[in-house]
Amino acid sequence: MSADVRSFFGRPIIIGGGIAGLMTALHLAPEPVLLLSRTLLGADTSSTWAQGGLAASLGDDDDPALHLADTIAAGDGLCDKDMASRILQDASSAIEGLAGFGVPFDRTLKGSLRLGLEAAHNRRRIVHAHGDGTGREIMRALIAAVRSTPSIVVVEGVEARRLAVRENAIRGVWASCSIGPVFFGSRRVVLATGGIGGLFLDTTNPSGSCGQGLALAARAGAVFSDLEFIQFHPTALDGPDRPMTLISEAVRGEGAALIDETGQPFLQGVPGAELAPRDVLARAVWNHLANGHRVFLDARQRPGPEFPRLFPTIVSACHGIGINPLRDLIPIRPAQHYHMGGVAVDGCGRTSVKGLWACGEVASTGLHGANRLASNSLTEAVVCARWVAESVAGTPARRTKPAFAGNYPSPDPVPVRPFLSRALGIVRDGEGLKAAAHALLPLAESKEAASDPAAVGLMIVVSALRRRESRGAHYRTDFPDHAAVARRSEITLEAAFAEARELAQSPVLEGVT
Ligand code: SIN
Repeated sequence: MSADVRSFFGRPIIIGGGIAGLMTALHLAPEPVLLLSRTLLGADTSSTWAQGGLAASLGDDDDPALHLADTIAAGDGLCDKDMASRILQDASSAIEGLAGFGVPFDRTLKGSLRLGLEAAHNRRRIVHAHGDGTGREIMRALIAAVRSTPSIVVVEGVEARRLAVRENAIRGVWASCSIGPVFFGSRRVVLATGGIGGLFLDTTNPSGSCGQGLALAARAGAVFSDLEFIQFHPTALDGPDRPMTLISEAVRGEGAALIDETGQPFLQGVPGAELAPRDVLARAVWNHLANGHRVFLDARQRPGPEFPRLFPTIVSACHGIGINPLRDLIPIRPAQHYHMGGVAVDGCGRTSVKGLWACGEVASTGLHGANRLASNSLTEAVVCARWVAESVAGTPARRTKPAFAGNYPSPDPVPVRPFLSRALGIVRDGEGLKAAAHALLPLAESKEAASDPAAVGLMIVVSALRRRESRGAHYRTDFPDHAAVARRSEITLEAAFAEARELAQSPVLEGVT
């Protein structure tokens, strides 16, 4: 490969082959771009696994202002209102754009888009494709479009390991592929690498989604925001498989109820009950489990006979562990699902490093605040991909020099999973966070394969320690209330290292192992 690589120098490089990366590449056409994907396109990406759809105010009873109000209410005081308003205004046209690429959205008998309901939405506004196969169908259409676009060169089986940066400006990407390390020179790089579920023991994300985009940006010196906000989905299938299968919120939207092993509902006193915002419901389920109960979804009456048609993926996962949702209760527990925080970006997706953009889950636009409203993230990825592409296209290409290929180990998240799962779960406290910082610091400073996952974990832990309040998905038993003023957070890897080193000296940590 190395002989050919220089012919690509100067092209924008997109790292990541999920919906955000593919849409950015398509919007950039006919400008030649290079899209680097760790796996074959469509494999091992959260986009393909997405069951829930895209939220947009498409109904006759709806408009972007109502969608914005629900987004802001779920975000618990931390959404960037202007950004959220811009993104949600563009939601309907993003869906039209996807339909234009051939995504077979579900429709009513009259031909209009079928609109589903999910938690904390006051209107039906979620579009799906093939029921719970939404992500798979979108990916199928976008991959076909990308494969037939001559300006997009897709390089599969390539893992980006470091960004080359000089004077806070991007110079290229060091990557690794089957024949060894390789350097791609470019002054324009887009991160579209997805989330961090692979850093946790219980997650609905593919294990390969282990925050590598955050690590690339961190080592390049980028600024991050709201990293402490990690969303736990209340209803993952409580079976033997890891990662866990999601039981979409749309199942509750169609009327399924949460009950415990006594057969009784247990959400009395939770405003919104089954359709409460995710942070609230995940905590309620967690507390019930912590009190020694088991928790189940009862879908036997509603959606009942409609279940297989609306949720074929979930039905097949249930059958895989001997459960028939038409007859049996579905055992569930919360699992890590989405990261609200990420690389801080402006309205064009630009990060604090010149020539570096971020799009999709890896980015923090401010749309989600402290708790994402269901199905807003695919919408965000599709809308923002266009803005990112416009910004990249408007940034002049400049030649870059070749560089020696650096050799960095493939990230191994396994050693960090127990620490992050313990300290950064649904319920947190200062002592647990400090213990995690203490354990992660030496790993993050090492040259071991766990170094990048540990560095990402450390930034999240330090952000969670700094936030001495409870808000949205960040709940601390030692600071259970809202602070008087809601503030978005910022951090860099350098600052996280400095704070963790200081903590390591502090007497509080004596005896922590
Ligand atoms: C779901 O279908 O419950 C997940 C949708 C989402 O994460 O937005």
